[in-house]
Amino acid sequence: MQTIRVDTPSAKYDVVTGAGLLRSLRPRIEQAVGRLPRRVFVLTSAPIWALWGHCMQPSFAEPPVVLLLEPGERYKTLASVERLLRQMAAAGADRGSLLIAFGGGIVGDLGGFLAAVFMRGIAYVQVPTTFLSQVDSSVGGKVGVNLPEGKNLVGAFHHPRAVFADIDTLSTLPDRELRAGLMESVKAGIIRDRSLVRYMEQHSAEILARNSRALEKVIAASIRMKAAVVHKDEREGGLRMILNFGHTVGHALEQATAYKALLHGEAVAWGMIAALHIARARRSVNAAQLQRLERLIHLYGPLPALKLRAPRVMAATGGDKKNLGGVRRFVLPVGIGDACVVEDVTPAELDAAVRFMLAQAAEKTA
Ligand SMILES: NC(=O)c1ccc[n+]([C@@H]2O[C@H](COP(=O)([O-])OP(=O)(O)OC[C@H]3O[C@@H](n4cnc5c(N)ncnc54)[C@H](O)[C@@H]3O)[C@@H](O)[C@H]2O)c1
Ligand SMILES: [Zn+2]
Repeated sequence: MQTIRVDTPSAKYDVVTGAGLLRSLRPRIEQAVGRLPRRVFVLTSAPIWALWGHCMQPSFAEPPVVLLLEPGERYKTLASVERLLRQMAAAGADRGSLLIAFGGGIVGDLGGFLAAVFMRGIAYVQVPTTFLSQVDSSVGGKVGVNLPEGKNLVGAFHHPRAVFADIDTLSTLPDRELRAGLMESVKAGIIRDRSLVRYMEQHSAEILARNSRALEKVIAASIRMKAAVVHKDEREGGLRMILNFGHTVGHALEQATAYKALLHGEAVAWGMIAALHIARARRSVNAAQLQRLERLIHLYGPLPALKLRAPRVMAATGGDKKNLGGVRRFVLPVGIGDACVVEDVTPAELDAAVRFMLAQAAEKTA
């Protein structure tokens, strides 16, 4: 069991990770929020509640009010928010109520948003159940929903009172979801933590076999990295941008494939490869480092093929426009374990990186 403190100007809370947390949730939540309020709401989705609800339920003297969100990004909407806020109001939620967001990143983002806006803000706790949500989305206070015009366009900063990442829940996660989530840990290592890179290189078999000790190590290191970054830059004024390593091209790939062909972590993996290519061309990483990091990324594959042409990807990054300046920030690794943000990547550099990535995708996924 490991506890990592998140300390930002607007909130301080613990992220606890380890096995068996669901069964001991009550005293832990009480420690974080004081006595359990009369009304506890659990936002989850039916499959997660069916798999893991029974482990959580004994924590409550009175059964919580269970709010269900349909699984899938297309339900991360304001329509769901309105429906769920009305359910909360009808069930007697008040300022003192507590919400527990119990699920993957979609449940976490939407649950945090419900807690941010219900009566201008109530307390909530994150209980993330996917690898990605345990290492990334549950920490840092960014909550929100999508609009038809784009992802995460509506949101708030609202930190949870605590995060409980129970590693046991990962035992039912589909393999592809685990591998995609691990890409955010690969990212964490590359930008900020050499020893995490080394650990993930040396222990991929245990990690992918879901050995609890190995998972706990990777998850705790990833959270520690994010907590340290958010501590220094809560609102993404500067340093927090480095968390977007791999995400400029990653988001473009997700958008160009209509969010259907790739999981987020898979898109980020290809995006990291493109960014690494730019870093290599600028001598920010050397040939041996490039090779080592590419190998690490593919260790947590297989990555799906990219059935896209370069101009389509360039258009999705906005990189086909003349003026990249200030709009397309790029995070480039500096050696292994450090990164910088640059704003002068030229369309030609980006185009070369995208072509390199597509060629590698064609070769590796043939
Ligand atoms: N707020 C942030 O800082 C931040 C950061 C990164 C990502 N996000 C958001 O996170 C979301 C993606 O999160 P995700 O990858 O967790 O996806 P997700 O919430 O869709 O979960 C993935 C799938 O796994 C299922 N699942 C969840 N837990 C399970 C378990 N223990 N066993 C079996 N199946 C399980 C879900 O029902 C779903 O089908 C996106 O909406 C993204 O925008 C937010
Ligand atoms: Zn991400």
